[in-house]
Amino acid sequence: MLDLDYIREAFPALEPAWGHLDNAGGTAAPRAVIDRIGAAMERATIARGGRHPRSQETAELDRLGHAAVAEWIGADPREVILGGSSTVNLDLLARSLRPTWAAGDEVIVTNLDHEANIGPWRRLAATGITIREWSLCPDTATLELEDLRRLLNKRTRLVAFTHCANVVGAIHDVRAATQMIHDAGALACVDGVAFGPHRQVDVDAWDVDFYAVSLYKIFGPHVGALFGKREHLLAGAPPTHDFLAADDVPYRYEPGGASPELLAGLPGILDYFDALDHHTFAVRGDADEAPKDRLFRAIAEHEASLAEILLSALRAAPGARIIGPETSDPALRVALVAFQIAGVPSHAIVAALAEAGLAVRSGHFYAPRALAALELDPACEGLVRASLAHYNTPDEMRRMVQALEPFLDPAR
Ligand SMILES: Cc1ncc(COP(=O)(O)O)c(C=O)c1O
Repeated sequence: MLDLDYIREAFPALEPAWGHLDNAGGTAAPRAVIDRIGAAMERATIARGGRHPRSQETAELDRLGHAAVAEWIGADPREVILGGSSTVNLDLLARSLRPTWAAGDEVIVTNLDHEANIGPWRRLAATGITIREWSLCPDTATLELEDLRRLLNKRTRLVAFTHCANVVGAIHDVRAATQMIHDAGALACVDGVAFGPHRQVDVDAWDVDFYAVSLYKIFGPHVGALFGKREHLLAGAPPTHDFLAADDVPYRYEPGGASPELLAGLPGILDYFDALDHHTFAVRGDADEAPKDRLFRAIAEHEASLAEILLSALRAAPGARIIGPETSDPALRVALVAFQIAGVPSHAIVAALAEAGLAVRSGHFYAPRALAALELDPACEGLVRASLAHYNTPDEMRRMVQALEPFLDPAR
């Protein structure tokens, strides 16, 4: 369904000899993004706020960058914070919300999230906030709603949880969790960093209060985007310049501003996907489905078929343990496959794959609490993770399975 030759042609970083299967560590960018960034730098990016045209051009890049992300995630541009990374954005958010709470108020964090959505909230314990943990279920490697229900109470102010963990790939029902959190009178802060590259983000439909994505994992430059409902952004107290007007949001949450030349690239993500949609569907004209829906459906199907090549090899190997769902069903998981092979250090596997021209990552992926809770084989020293994008090919997956064979079947 997807024309992979057409797609790969758009990404200068993708080379046939190099299988980029570490997309959760950062995706390649299409020319539509790269050219916009280059063009912005040729014009000089001078701080916004000046009356001269070049400064006003920067203000326009800033406006267009916010508008592009807003369109991508289903938000209002005034509710989109752009910063250096999701780690930076979530840390600033926690410090900004703290003044709106009292000592003894409670925040719930998980042990499944990337540390970026745990540490900033846990650090509030030093200021009198009580931290409770929504622990993952070791059998499924997911967060169960019934466990959350038991933790919520009238002192709960916020629940920080993941849409899809970067070491598991299982998709959580964000709408249902958010509903439960709102019923308890609390706010939902969702880490969508590992979900965003694979599916359509719709913060409005899910009714989340905060939602983080990292655009360098969604085919863009190194920028983190944090959605926040306007009423919460207005109520918060970000630790930035005192002289800024209280309603100057999201700017008050963007200390120093995000790099304008990088924001210049953000509309290029939309341009690329518009062109891909047109290329994929123009002839067939699936008019009954919205362009974004049909494209994301095609992407999800393609990625699931890639994941299935790896998952089926792992399922067949007695020594392999897949973390999270063993199925490639796109309703249950994204195409991010973490695993262990009994007794084999994960870094040894990754080194062998690198020799074969395949980029895959090993370790704890900044989610050490999840790894501890998953009761893993210590001899493996962490996980191996292959994370796929829509530009990956069946051939790359077959090469990966082939390179894994000596580990999966040591008798060979
Ligand atoms: C699930 C998840 N959350 C948060 C982060 C942190 O994002 P950033 O690198 O933009 O700080 C990552 C980064 O890998 C991640 O995978």
